[in-house]
Formats: sequence, structure tokens, C-alpha cells
Amino acid sequence: MERIQKLLKSNHQWAEQLKADDPEFFERLSESQTPEFLWIGCSDSRISPTSSVGMLPGEMFVHRNVANLVHHGDMNCLAVLQFAVEVLKVEHVIVCGHYGCGGVKAAFDDARYGLVDNWLRPIQDTMHKYEAELGKLAEYDERLDKLCELNVIEQIISVGETTVVQDAWDRGQTLYIHGWIYRIAEGIYRDMKITVRSLAELDKMRQETYRPKAETRPAVPG
Ligand code: CO
Repeated sequence: MERIQKLLKSNHQWAEQLKADDPEFFERLSESQTPEFLWIGCSDSRISPTSSVGMLPGEMFVHRNVANLVHHGDMNCLAVLQFAVEVLKVEHVIVCGHYGCGGVKAAFDDARYGLVDNWLRPIQDTMHKYEAELGKLAEYDERLDKLCELNVIEQIISVGETTVVQDAWDRGQTLYIHGWIYRIAEGIYRDMKITVRSLAELDKMRQETYRPKAETRPAVPG
């Protein structure tokens, strides 16, 4: 219980400190939010999206889950995306992965943790999609780092393939999807320089990443 009390005490100090700098801060914040950014990142406790990029409350809309995945059947993620894009009109979606992600590693190792394995399943699809590329890397850690990066690329595609984003682009709304990756041991984000801002750019990205495996595909009977 003491540790919980400590959280509440820290919260008071944090609020006081912000008010000391800007007495009207919370009052103003209570009236509306106008964030420019939507963050889609991993739930990992070692990552602190807003404070690590110097943002204050109100500046970033945040969605987090294990391994920063965007499943097209995930109402939670889709609702966040829809609200962020259509109501808040954010201009930038940042998909942020991180090296050493436990979720990516679990999928990579084909480990069994229970229900979460189902959630992580798309990472194994990514792993198979890029089998040849991953196979070129000699060390396990290199392959895992690469898969963490590839997972970000695949999630950018996933965000771009949602009706929410495609409708926004159709309307001519400015909407960028960025890919970042974080190294916990450094505390530094790296821009993967794979920003997508239109359906044409998304198509280009899909073409570049799609590797049909015709030789392994079973022949269609009949
Ligand atoms: Co993670």
C-alpha cells in the first residue's frame, strides 16, 4: 500500500510543478485537446512516449499494446485511430517499435505464453514473409533486431490499409504515417525514414516488401 500512496503523492508534486510554471495549464487543458500526433507503440514499461519526446499532456494521443500491433479486427485500435484522425485531426501517426521487444521475441522463438501468443501471431507471418532477408543475418540478435524493424514496417502498412486512413487520404486530409524504433539501452528513437503520406506511397511500400513465394505455394487443384 505504501508504494501506491507514493504514486498519489508524486502525482501531487508533478501537478504542482506544472502549475508553478503555468498556473492555468490544467484549466486550459480541461477545455479541449488538440494533439498533432497519434502514437502507436508497445506497452513495454521501459518506454515513456510523451515525456521521452519532451511533450506535455494534451500534445499526443496514445495507443499501446504488446508489440505495437495494428490488427484490422481490433476495435480498440481502430476506434483510437478513427477518433484521432477524424475527430482530433492528427497529422502524424507514429508507429514506434523497439529493439528487444518481448512480444517480437516470443513470436520469433515460437515461445508459449498463453493467450498472448494469438495476439502475436501476425509477427510470425511477418517472419515468414521476410524469411530470406532474415536468413541472411548470421547472429540471433541481428535477426531479432531486424524482425523488430520489419514489424514496424508491417504495422505502417496495416495502418495505411485501414478504411480510416484511406478515407482520410481520399478526402485530401494531410496524414503522415511514420516508422520509429527505440533502443531501450540508449533511450534514443531512430527515424526509420519510411514515412507514408498517400495511397500511392503505401502501394509502393507494399510492392517493395511483397515477396511472392510461388515456388512454395501448392498448386490449385482442378
Ligand atoms: Co515490446
